[in-house]
Parts: sequence; C-alpha cells; structure tokens
Amino acid sequence: MKIKKLIYSLSILLFQISVSYAIDIKTDTIKPGELWPDDQGNHVQAHGGGIIKIKDTFYWYGEQRSKEIDTNFRYVSCYSSKDLMNWKFRGNALVLSKPDTVLGKWVLERPKVFFNSKTGKYVMYMHIDGSVRGTDRKTPGWGYAYARVGVAVSDKPTGPFKYIRSFRPLGLESRDIGQFVDDDGTPYLIFESRPSKGFYIAGLSDDYLDADREIAFIQAPLEGGAIVHYKGLYYVVGSALTGWRPNPNKYATATRLSGPWSEFQDIAPPATNTYGAQSTMLLKVVGQQETTVLFMGDQWRPQQQWDSRYLWMPLKIDDGKLWLPSPRPFTIDVKSGKASAVD
Ligand code: GAL
Repeated sequence: MKIKKLIYSLSILLFQISVSYAIDIKTDTIKPGELWPDDQGNHVQAHGGGIIKIKDTFYWYGEQRSKEIDTNFRYVSCYSSKDLMNWKFRGNALVLSKPDTVLGKWVLERPKVFFNSKTGKYVMYMHIDGSVRGTDRKTPGWGYAYARVGVAVSDKPTGPFKYIRSFRPLGLESRDIGQFVDDDGTPYLIFESRPSKGFYIAGLSDDYLDADREIAFIQAPLEGGAIVHYKGLYYVVGSALTGWRPNPNKYATATRLSGPWSEFQDIAPPATNTYGAQSTMLLKVVGQQETTVLFMGDQWRPQQQWDSRYLWMPLKIDDGKLWLPSPRPFTIDVKSGKASAVD
C-alpha cells in the first residue's frame, strides 16, 4: 500500500515538474515540420491559419483540431506572440455549431482575421462547407457542395467572435480562402472557385463584412492562395487541387493586383511536393534592417489532424523570383527583420 502511495505521489510530482517546465520553456528556433509546443506544452492547433499583427503582437488563427474537442462544434483557435516563435494559447476565438440546417456533414476551414481600424472590429472569414441535404453522395465533391465563406465579428483579437452569416463572395462558389492586406492597409479575400477553374481576389466592403468587388480572376486551378507585396511586385502562391495530398506549389507575379499575372512557376523542386506542405499564407515581417517573407504551409496528416505540422521557412524572394529553400531550423528577429539558419 505504502509503495503504491509513493508511486502515486512521485508521478504527481513528475507531472507538476513537466507542466511547469513546459510553461517556462522558451524557444528561439522555428523547426519546420516538427511538433510546435505552445506556452502550455501542447502542439499548436492553428492549421490552415493566418496571422495579423496588432501593435507589437502577432495573432495566429487557425483550425483547432485537437483530439479532445467536442465534434458537434467547429473551432477557430487563437494564439499570440511577440516574436513569432513562442506562442501563447489564447483560447478558441470562435466556437460554431452547424450554421445552416441544409448542411449535412460540415467543415470550417482556413479561418483568417482582418482588423478594421475604422470600425475597431476584428472580422473573421472562414471556409464553410459540407454536403447539402438531398444531394447525391455519388456526385463528385459531394462533401464540399455548400462552398461558402462564413463571417464572424469580435471587439477583441482573442474573441469571442460572433458568427454573422455565410455567403458566396461575388455570388460564386468559394472553397479555400486566403487573406491579403496590402501595404496601404487595403484588405482582400482570395478564394478558389472550382467552376471557373481559377481563383479570385476580391475587395472587402467598408465594414469588411462583405467581399463585393472583383479585383482579379486568375485562371489557374490553384487553392491555398496566398499573396505578398514585396519590393513593388505582387507574388501569389497556390497549390494544386489534390486535397490533403501535397503537390508542387506554384507562384506568379504582377505589378498590379488586377494583373496581368505572369505564368506560374515552381516554388521548390517539384519532386519534393513542396516538402510535403501546402501554402496557407505569406507573412511579411518588416524589420528595421530587413524584410523577410515567411512561407507558411501545412503538412497535413488527414488521419490524425491534431498532429498536422507547420512548414514555415523564409523565402528567397527578389526581382520577380521566389524560391522556398529546403526546410531547416531558423530563428527570426522581428525587430531587425532578419531570419537566419540555426545549426
Ligand atoms: C484541400 C484544402 C484543405 C481541405 C482539404 C480537404 O485541398 O486545401 O483546406 O479542404 O482539401 O480534402
């Protein structure tokens, strides 16, 4: 009995030590493809995500796919960081129950948050999809027939976000979404539209609650759309339509968002299938000395989504050329804007 008690006390002690160790732990390295512990020691759950910077704080939103979640709901997680390497879990900023009774099996994917400085509101866009009741299971794309964006609003970056509605931007089917905020602060929604075999860049209304202006239609069957404006050129990155399976992601350039856009080219050796990742965002880190553009990608694990990994890497980008170097650990200093490899 005494031994049992001793073992019990020891295991409690060990647990407490490991929890406090996890909380205190700080990292100065981003390790592409590895587990990424948050401030509580749990792997970050912000898949298909997006990042905004408010003053000196970055907020990372994404699909919450932890094993423990109640599957009656869909969740958007929120993490905050001052250095892009150490992330504090700020809770689930949106908890959503099925938004429409016509939906059967449904998903919430690729959430992105914009800050509207005029209204002071945080506006979240997300891909809402699923099967539509009464439609035929055998139809290709049956599980993704709804094809809409959802919009939710909050007064604070960490939420809670209040879901408002879903709609089809520009009246079109919309699946993977991406966000882009230009240097002058103008927000854009990127969305893939299967029937048009391409993707759209749409402008947002003054209150950000609608995506109502077509800026460009890029005729290329790509999703996971992401854009960055760097040294006078727009670069767009996207992946082929292969579901959770990785493929060679590609990029094109234009001097204006409305185009014309160049031909698409590989961002990495095609045989690597983008090192197993799919684009979700291009994050521009503007420092006092340098500007670094980070490729943010997801390495999906469809059977164990909670274990899906992140492939973040500083891009080689200049003069109309963009290249994703072979992944390796790196550190980033958000003040200087410099990223460097860590051996
Ligand atoms: C991918 C898409 C993901 C998810 C997946 C489902 O093409 O980028 O966000 O929708 O398909 O198969």
